[in-house]
Amino acid sequence: MNQDEDVSPHGMWSSRWLFVLAAVGSAVGLGNIWKFPYLTGANGGAAFVLIFLVTTFIVAVPMLMAEVLIGRQGRNSPVNTLRILVQQHRRSGWWVLIAWFGMLAGILILSYYSVAAGWALYYMVMMASGAFDGVTAEVANQTFAAFTGNPWLLGLCHVIFLTLTVIIIGKGVVRGLESSNRWFMPLLFLLLLVLLGYGMMSGGFSEAFAFMFDFKWVDVTTSTWLTALGQSFFTLSLGMCCMMSYGAYVPSNASIPGTTAAIALISTLVSIGAGLAIFPIVFVNGLEPAQGPGLMFVTLPLAFGHMSFGALFGFLFFLLVSFAAITSAISMTEPALAYLVEEYNASRSRVAVTLGVLCWMIGVGTVLSFNVLADFTVDGSRTIFAFIDHLTQNIILPVCGLLLAVFCAWRLPRLVVQSQLGIRSRSIWWLWQLFIGVVSPLAVAVILVMGLFPCVLTQDCGA
Ligand code: TRP
Repeated sequence: MNQDEDVSPHGMWSSRWLFVLAAVGSAVGLGNIWKFPYLTGANGGAAFVLIFLVTTFIVAVPMLMAEVLIGRQGRNSPVNTLRILVQQHRRSGWWVLIAWFGMLAGILILSYYSVAAGWALYYMVMMASGAFDGVTAEVANQTFAAFTGNPWLLGLCHVIFLTLTVIIIGKGVVRGLESSNRWFMPLLFLLLLVLLGYGMMSGGFSEAFAFMFDFKWVDVTTSTWLTALGQSFFTLSLGMCCMMSYGAYVPSNASIPGTTAAIALISTLVSIGAGLAIFPIVFVNGLEPAQGPGLMFVTLPLAFGHMSFGALFGFLFFLLVSFAAITSAISMTEPALAYLVEEYNASRSRVAVTLGVLCWMIGVGTVLSFNVLADFTVDGSRTIFAFIDHLTQNIILPVCGLLLAVFCAWRLPRLVVQSQLGIRSRSIWWLWQLFIGVVSPLAVAVILVMGLFPCVLTQDCGA
């Protein structure tokens, strides 16, 4: 453990902008481009989008600041950061459990994230081959169904993506990614704009816009709240100490409120942009908005298949999505990786391979849940994929986020938090305490209870 100097033993981001870039790299990924649109489609559109915005900016952003500040204060892997802080401030050792759950969540999330990222790899190749030129909605649907129905092909793409991830994390985060992030991210935004332009001219844009923003209370259920909350955590890489481990490498002179606000804003814009690009295609082609995880893989080939240079743009788009997925995937293992390196003095590459194999084994369950085990449910209603997704996104992330907020607000000395955040005014301090100590944790607690036990509202839990 390193307790004295204000640098992390794992290296540091070279500047605050490179931290923003890395954190945006972690935040922007399949969560924005793949998950957000299909969750919006499956949860009634505007009801989901509005609640997602509320939970993001009222609940998740303060928690993002808390995670980064805890990380920067401790300067080690999440487990050791929390150990150092509880020792220094004489708090209970139980808080360290948060980091253990975080590491577990990271591995579980990567196990299925890498499966979906493998789909992007496959579509990149398919696009380049011109397979989607002039494609019809029916063929796009069938292509996806045939692809996910083939466990071997799916498994192969999964392994390829995981191997790439392991190679990159084995080499070290700072060196390998700062330079490529700088080019690929802006390029991805640019291509998203091209798709957005296509959507606007497709004739389905106003319907898509209404679907995403015409809010009606009647569409809101307790599960909408829980799914939106989970998505806010997921898309900001929050609640599994991932941002805490990235925070450990942030230079002391960077402003935490400023950088985290930028990260949240960029990530949210990408999510909304992806929705506005995908839904016009859904409506113009009479596709089903609530079709689930296949949404992006059925709609976008349609758009690319009908635009000029579509094969090239399509190839580039799925290449960039795969890249965005890699920059997110590497952040999921960072808490576990940094911990194992610290604890056992092991080499990064050996630890990376071990984690990769673990994710692969768990991920096989997800691969099979789209074909051979499609009818098998873990809890009576969810396939293996849906169950792991629900467990991590809707339970572990919010619970860990809540605990970290409470830790930050009520267990860390005021002076530490104030100096980390650069807060000097009293009223701003109270506002911060109100949010991180009361509003955000309370909101998470209420949404969790309502979402997981809807019977509480109707008062028929025993029945
Ligand atoms: N935020 C990423 C995305 O939207 C996924 C991700 C990266 C993540 N690190 C995480 C999700 C940590 C939860 C926790 O694609």
